Amino acid sequence: MTSGNREPRNIVLGVSGGIACYKAVELVRLLVRDGFTVQVIMTREALEFVTPLTFQTISGRSVATETFSLTQESEIGHINLADQADLLVIAPATANIIGKIATGIADDLLTTVIMATRAQVLIAPSMNVHMYENPILQGNISKLKGLGYHFMEPVEGYLACGYEGRGRLPEPQDIVEEIHGLVKKKDLVGERLLITAGPNREPLDPIRYIGNRSSGKMGYALARIGVRRGAEVTLISGPTSLRPPQGVRLISVLTAAEMRQAVLKEFSAATAVLMAAAVADYHPEKLLPKKIKRGRDPIQLRLKPNPDILREVGMRKNGQILIGFAAETEALVANAKKKLHEKNLDLIVANNVTEEGSGFDVDTNVATILDRKGGVHSLPLMSKEELADRIYDYLLALKNSTSS
Ligand code: PMT
Repeated sequence: MTSGNREPRNIVLGVSGGIACYKAVELVRLLVRDGFTVQVIMTREALEFVTPLTFQTISGRSVATETFSLTQESEIGHINLADQADLLVIAPATANIIGKIATGIADDLLTTVIMATRAQVLIAPSMNVHMYENPILQGNISKLKGLGYHFMEPVEGYLACGYEGRGRLPEPQDIVEEIHGLVKKKDLVGERLLITAGPNREPLDPIRYIGNRSSGKMGYALARIGVRRGAEVTLISGPTSLRPPQGVRLISVLTAAEMRQAVLKEFSAATAVLMAAAVADYHPEKLLPKKIKRGRDPIQLRLKPNPDILREVGMRKNGQILIGFAAETEALVANAKKKLHEKNLDLIVANNVTEEGSGFDVDTNVATILDRKGGVHSLPLMSKEELADRIYDYLLALKNSTSS
């Protein structure tokens, strides 16, 4: 089984001189966190905003600034930089640097490396709103887009020059997401994934509800990686504190009944369904219109079972690949196998939620993937994003084996 996680990892980050340079520091931190090697090149103007030492400390590599510095050229070398980059990112990109690239000027290290590289280039402009709207800049952007350069639109908001408008550098996390999307192989193009995530809330009275410990991290990781690998993703999510991944169509729900309704509505358009949500198994028989008053005596709650959404989908499936999760506290494989067959699934991802680093509300998981042919694949502790990648590798292998 190949891992979809093997992706190009060398980023050259060009930082040109704008106030948003400070955000580029956070961008480097996030890229290093995600396992990228980041070589920073700063323009002379960028040096006025942030020192190279800041970038060097965060990236763990010397920062390149000069084309004609003998030491830098022998240690780093501008053609080396251009050749080794899997992706060249310019963030923030000023109107000046975009103009230079568009007209073929290579008069400093960054523009020379851009001229010499054969890697993809991603440009994230940041400037005053009137500069951004200037037809000369817009013409340069159109020309570069036509030549295959990638751009991220600046976002609207308060600008350092005092104006409100479009011109802010996108948030570093969004630039990281764009980078992942550009370097990742697009082997899920054509797939329409329906993913569920998070807990349900089953209301008791206007104040209280019954819920569970799901944070939504597993389902959101599946959604994020699905988009990165080129799929169209619809994410049906219970309440979480997570930011919806870029490029995902989000449907927010509260109760298991709402989740069921949304899943049944969306399911026929999907090519695969992945149910990572911790669906509530019961809801209070009565929803009380007023707050239950505190008293001295114990109170009793009568709970009614919720429908099993996945089982219903399993009964109706019509060519979709169906992937369930099993949150277990004992007899992991035996219980998961039972659910795989009872719910008519193609794969089930079993996690022992009592194990360290596995299950609810952590960034990692320890999973065993079971298929219908009796295959049992135990995976080591890994991040939920890595696990999402592995699940998609299994999904694709399954598709290939049924189509050949
Ligand atoms: O959200 P996180 O904090 O990241 O945690 C991740 C997770 C532990 C929630 C996730 O990895 C996980 O295991 N999700 C499934 C939880 C669960 O409900 O397991 P289950 O064994 O009770 O259900 C089996 C399958 O049936 C699941 O795919 C579930 O979505 C589905 N189900 C369950 C009950 C129900 N009424 N309807 C369903 O569709």
